[in-house]
Amino acid sequence: MTTDRKLVLGMGLIDGYGGLHGAWRAPHVDPGTYTDVDATVRHARAAERGKFAFLFTPDFPAVRGDVEHSTINNLMDPLIQLTAVARETTNIGFVATGSTTFQEPFNTARQFKALDVLSHGRAGWNAVTTSDPAVAANYGRPVAERAERYQRAHEAIQIVQALWGSWQEDAWIKDQAANRFIDPTRLQPVNLQGQYVASRGPWRSHRRNRVSPSSSRPAAPARTSCRSRAATRAASSPRCGRSRRRAPSASSCGTRHAKPAATPTRSSTSQAS
Ligand SMILES: Cc1cc2nc3c(=O)[nH]c(=O)nc-3n(C[C@H](O)[C@H](O)[C@H](O)COP(=O)(O)O)c2cc1C
Repeated sequence: MTTDRKLVLGMGLIDGYGGLHGAWRAPHVDPGTYTDVDATVRHARAAERGKFAFLFTPDFPAVRGDVEHSTINNLMDPLIQLTAVARETTNIGFVATGSTTFQEPFNTARQFKALDVLSHGRAGWNAVTTSDPAVAANYGRPVAERAERYQRAHEAIQIVQALWGSWQEDAWIKDQAANRFIDPTRLQPVNLQGQYVASRGPWRSHRRNRVSPSSSRPAAPARTSCRSRAATRAASSPRCGRSRRRAPSASSCGTRHAKPAATPTRSSTSQAS
C-alpha cells in the first residue's frame, strides 16, 4: 500500500554541544564550543543537508537544574542565534520560541518579522505561555494565573498577526521618478486593545515575499487569530499566519486549554500621519 504521507523532521538547536544532557562530556566534544556560533552553524548546516525541515529553538531564560554537572540549555537568545544561522543556510526553516507572557506583542512582531525578512521567509513562532517561576523571577514578576496567561496569549497572538497583516502587498511603491515611496492608504492601523496588551500599528516594513512568519499558538480557539486579521485586511492577506514558503509551524501544546474570556477590541486611536 502506498501513501503520500510525509514525515516532517525538525531538529532542536540547543547549544554548541547539541541537545542531550551530558553531551558536553561526550568523547571528541570540545568543551569550548558551548557558546560557539560556528558550532551551531555547523549543526544547522548538517540538518539542512540531512533534509530536516526546520530548526527549533526552545527558550527558558533562567538558570535551572543541576548546573554543577549539566550545561544550561538554550543560553542564547533564540532570535539572535537564528539570525546568525539564517545567513549561513539557505533552505531550512526556523521555529523560534517567544513568550506571550513576558514579551510585548509589538516587540515579538518586530523581531520575528526581522528574522523572516532576512531569512527570506523561513521564520516561524512557537508561542509559549511561560509559567516557570525562575523565568518569571528574571522579569521581576510572579507567575500569573493560568487563565491570565492564556488570555494574554490570546490577545498577543492576535495583535502580532494583525501587525504582520497591516502592510498591504502593494503599499511599497518605491517609484523614484514620481517621488512616491509608500502608498499610505495601503497601511492599515491595528488599533487592538486587549485586557493585558494593546497596539496601534500599523507595521513599519514591507511584507517580504508577500508572506508573514508562521505562528503556532497555545490552544487559542481556531476562530480568534483569523478574526483579527480579517478585521484588518483579510481580503488581501494570503493566509492567516501561514507562510507559502518553507517556514514551518510548530505545535506548542497538544491539549485544550482555558478558552480566553474576550477578544481584543478596536480602540478609536487613529493612525499617525
Ligand atoms: C512542544 C512544546 C514546546 C515548548 N517550549 C517551551 C519553551 O521553549 N519555553 C517555555 O517557557 N515553555 C515551553 N513550553 C511550555 C508551554 O508553553 C507551557 O507553558 C507549559 O506547557 C505549561 O503549561 P501551561 O502554560 O498551560 O500551564 C513548551 C510546550 C510544548 C508542548
